[in-house]
Amino acid sequence: MTRSGTDMHHPPQLPTTHFLDNRIYTEQSIFEEEVDKIFGRIWKFVCHESEIDQPFDFRTLDFVDLPLLVTRDDDGKVRSFLNACSHRGAKVVRELSGNARDFTCPFHLWTYDAKGNCTAVTRDEAYESVGCDKADLGLREFRTDVHLGMVFVTLNDDAEDLDAFLGGALEQVEDVLSAEPLEVYHYNETIVQANWKNWQELDSELYHEYLHVINRRTGMTVPTYFTRNWKFYANGHGTLIGPPLQTDYGKQPGWKAERDGRVLPGLQPNEYRVVDIWPDTAFVVRDSGFRIDSQVPISATETLVQFRALAPKSDTPEQREARYRDHNQFWGPFGRNVQEDIIACELQRDGMRGGHLRYSLIAREEEGLTQDEITLRRYYEEWGRRMGRAASNISAIAAE
Ligand code: FES
Ligand SMILES: [Fe+2]
Repeated sequence: MTRSGTDMHHPPQLPTTHFLDNRIYTEQSIFEEEVDKIFGRIWKFVCHESEIDQPFDFRTLDFVDLPLLVTRDDDGKVRSFLNACSHRGAKVVRELSGNARDFTCPFHLWTYDAKGNCTAVTRDEAYESVGCDKADLGLREFRTDVHLGMVFVTLNDDAEDLDAFLGGALEQVEDVLSAEPLEVYHYNETIVQANWKNWQELDSELYHEYLHVINRRTGMTVPTYFTRNWKFYANGHGTLIGPPLQTDYGKQPGWKAERDGRVLPGLQPNEYRVVDIWPDTAFVVRDSGFRIDSQVPISATETLVQFRALAPKSDTPEQREARYRDHNQFWGPFGRNVQEDIIACELQRDGMRGGHLRYSLIAREEEGLTQDEITLRRYYEEWGRRMGRAASNISAIAAE
């Protein structure tokens, strides 16, 4: 039976945890509230430590709506700063990455060191004479911490420690990340015309694997696929546990049963794992490949998604080449799987245009198993806690 306009504006006859008010994906005012209440307060993954491997290496990137500078000083400590000059606000460092002991702002040549101190003010006597001391003019520093090689930053000076925020959620990838030094060997990014949460959902709800014909053939045909359970942690993180899922790549016509690349430490051949770090980061592991998805939300309906791939530094050139092939077969800029995911979340944006479809459903219950939409319910439980309003009805603000 079809539904009338009146029907469409009645909430589904379900617990409020089991559906979403689609305006969480489309309303710019909600997006701006998320920037403040979520991204202004949580620890956010920004890069892997190998991107600032050596003393005085640096990396610039966007942290939602602000320019970030990440450095490693000669003391080995990783730090991050607002990449904006204390003088007149110009972006200080324009290169994406490099190695430098000092950073000189191009506008009036004020200079900062890798610890963020202001070390030189051009013709400083006329600033000192009005009481401005460069000792007080360093860059704005943000709390920065590294866990299993992953660099996290928070804009919140009062945030709990990173270990407390993560709460052990990386346990399923700890063996992979700690066995030997890793490095980012592949990076690509894409602007997706969809809300940032749509992308994170793709990394946490596996019901959508029906979208991917290759996943249907090579993953969902494996008996252990449907028998694994989601495990959740404080702050909304989650991971899939249970008997290892060993993908049967040979089920895809023209593919070999096992891939070419050296299996990452800690994994069995063809093994798949996934870890979701709330709110915008995922670690996806496929035997020889370790993919990190992270996001730079741009607006309610536009998102920069960043994809990194990790490999052991000890790879031989031949092993690295095989790893590239594996990565790009499934993922990478021309990998089939990621492109299909992009299509899916852009279709969501198209379908929700104009606000005619008020609600969507996250009601599928399956005892917490692989394709249970409990992952989305947990995600939006945390979203509601942080935002002070239910994701099923954004008009209602929770009592403080
Ligand atoms: S804005 Fe940077 S030196 Fe003036
Ligand atoms: Fe997908």
